Amino acid sequence: MTTLGTPLSPHAFRVLLLGAGELGKEVAIELQRFGVEVIAADRYANAPAMQVAHRCHVLDMLDAEAVRALVEAERPHLVVPEIEAIHTRTLVEMEAGFQRDGHDARVIPTARAAWLTMDREGIRRLAAETLGLPTSTYRFVDTLEQYRDAVAEVGLPCVVKPVMSSSGKGQSLVRGAADIDPAWNYAQSGGRAGAGRVIVEGFVDFDYEITLLTVRHAGGTAFCAPIGHLQRDGDYRESWQPQPMSPLALERAQAVARAITDDLGGWGVFGVELFVKGDEVWFSEVSPRPHDTGLVTLASQELSEFALHARAILGLPLSVDADGNVPLKTVAASCAVLVEGQGVPVFSCVDAALARPGSDLRLFGKPRVDGQRRVAVTLAPGADVDTARSHAREAASALRVELA
Ligand SMILES: Nc1ncnc2c1ncn2[C@@H]1O[C@H](COP(=O)(O)OP(=O)(O)O)[C@@H](O)[C@H]1O
Ligand SMILES: [Mg+2]
Repeated sequence: MTTLGTPLSPHAFRVLLLGAGELGKEVAIELQRFGVEVIAADRYANAPAMQVAHRCHVLDMLDAEAVRALVEAERPHLVVPEIEAIHTRTLVEMEAGFQRDGHDARVIPTARAAWLTMDREGIRRLAAETLGLPTSTYRFVDTLEQYRDAVAEVGLPCVVKPVMSSSGKGQSLVRGAADIDPAWNYAQSGGRAGAGRVIVEGFVDFDYEITLLTVRHAGGTAFCAPIGHLQRDGDYRESWQPQPMSPLALERAQAVARAITDDLGGWGVFGVELFVKGDEVWFSEVSPRPHDTGLVTLASQELSEFALHARAILGLPLSVDADGNVPLKTVAASCAVLVEGQGVPVFSCVDAALARPGSDLRLFGKPRVDGQRRVAVTLAPGADVDTARSHAREAASALRVELA
């Protein structure tokens, strides 16, 4: 039985979002609809989810003491990590403490899941070595010498990434001998924790890659239709749903997603990233939270991944089809809108971007851009994937973004 109170009262059900970006903003809105008290935290002020939260906090979430003090001050019922860059060790310790103190609090989906997935090594070793799931070949290395040996063993082409990184930062594709040392230097400068451990992965020559949104909820595990996506420079540019797949590839993808999410446990949405070639499927990585490529579900599903996450973490039922999976409302696509430079985003021609019936968009409300950032996404339904993609792209190119 789920009991939900009234926000800002002694009967409030409180959720603390660690990370307050555009994905957290949609989760916050869905939680607000259930009368949940939403507290948003991030390292900068006026982050997107803070703008729709009851309260917010600005802190360094990689600082163990700061994270501990925040959780102790807010006493949330749920701690919901929205990003990877959190002192997850502290969440693991605190989760154990909650049970000891009889404090009815949980980390979503589990503190261990947040901890394992913030480090490529934790999740890769779990997937490949403990669960025996198919992955690219890989080596972990700490020094330039080990790295050169690893590249020789894995073979070219290979992909080099800092173990603590996201959005392509510090990541390179090594095609030839001349790329080997520059990739090491880039990985040493691009990791979240500065210089450090690196993964060398064999390049998987996939036909396409997908995100399989997998929802662990009170009634079991539900899969969304596979989301196809296009990545460039470490960021997703377009996503669409459904990605056509052979029945065998889909079955294998779901089996991999079930195995990894069952092991991570807890309730909530997971974005399981997989590479597919013919009927063959490789596990790549998993987010224990809604996934950016899943923004398309704002158009393609009755309950978006954010609505599903809110329901799942609150222990509420989803509406599922006869197979227990999340039904697709329509074929749709999303197109990310990126801007580069410094300043405050100002959007014009928003009307033009919405001109086509059925089209939609989200302007994230990021307070400032410094570098290359995603500031909006366009959404379009379509009779088929190609039409939806071209309509979403058209809308994105109609939108004008200036930095004031
Ligand atoms: N081993 C690989 N083989 C082929 N492509 C890869 C490989 N690893 C990563 N990629 C490409 O790079 C993208 C980003 O890599 P990923 O490991 O998902 O990093 P991030 O954590 O930054 O999302 C993937 O979506 C895929 O397109
Ligand atoms: Mg990824």
